[in-house]
Amino acid sequence: MTAVFEKELVNIDGKVFFPYLSNNVIRKRIRELASEIERDYKGKNPVFLVVLKGAIFFASELMQNVSQPIFVEILKAESYGNRLESSGKVNLFLTNRNFGGKDIVVVEDIIDTGLTIKTIMDELAKFEPSSVELAVLLLKKEKLKFNLSIKYCGFEIPDKFVIGFGLDFAEYGRNLKDIYILKE
Ligand code: IMP
Repeated sequence: MTAVFEKELVNIDGKVFFPYLSNNVIRKRIRELASEIERDYKGKNPVFLVVLKGAIFFASELMQNVSQPIFVEILKAESYGNRLESSGKVNLFLTNRNFGGKDIVVVEDIIDTGLTIKTIMDELAKFEPSSVELAVLLLKKEKLKFNLSIKYCGFEIPDKFVIGFGLDFAEYGRNLKDIYILKE
């Protein structure tokens, strides 16, 4: 597996990715989402539940732009194996289960079929939180198979694989500042 950067293109193991969303555009949109969240949770201290690994950049930018005190928790979700398609099975690793009566904002990088988020929502419901809302940076709307209420959505994107700003292809590309899209 090799990752090569040729000017503006990223080539990972023969797959070529083009620049798609610039860091400035992404961060501007995240600041808008943060303002909405700040307004909606006025006087409250929500728990931001960050879904690892992909949401690390999104969550960092989002949380820094919310001014009231919040709580931060993490959750690891694994579904992809190593390639471009979801394995169809989601494994969750929760480090905290103390969500009873809390207002939770689940912070996720991307929703594809929606299986990961549906699995997370079902798991969280068991702890009887006061409320659960979703903040997602990217949504592949045409792939969505579940009826999810997504309150805070950064961008709707086509059904194409993307990397950068926390998102990976076989663990490559998370550190790219911008988001790149696969050429097919
Ligand atoms: P879902 O369960 O089908 O909605 O897939 C969501 C998960 O798959 C995300 O949390 C990502 O880890 C991964 N994923 C889906 N699409 C992409 C993509 O285009 N790039 C990188 N990861 C993706």
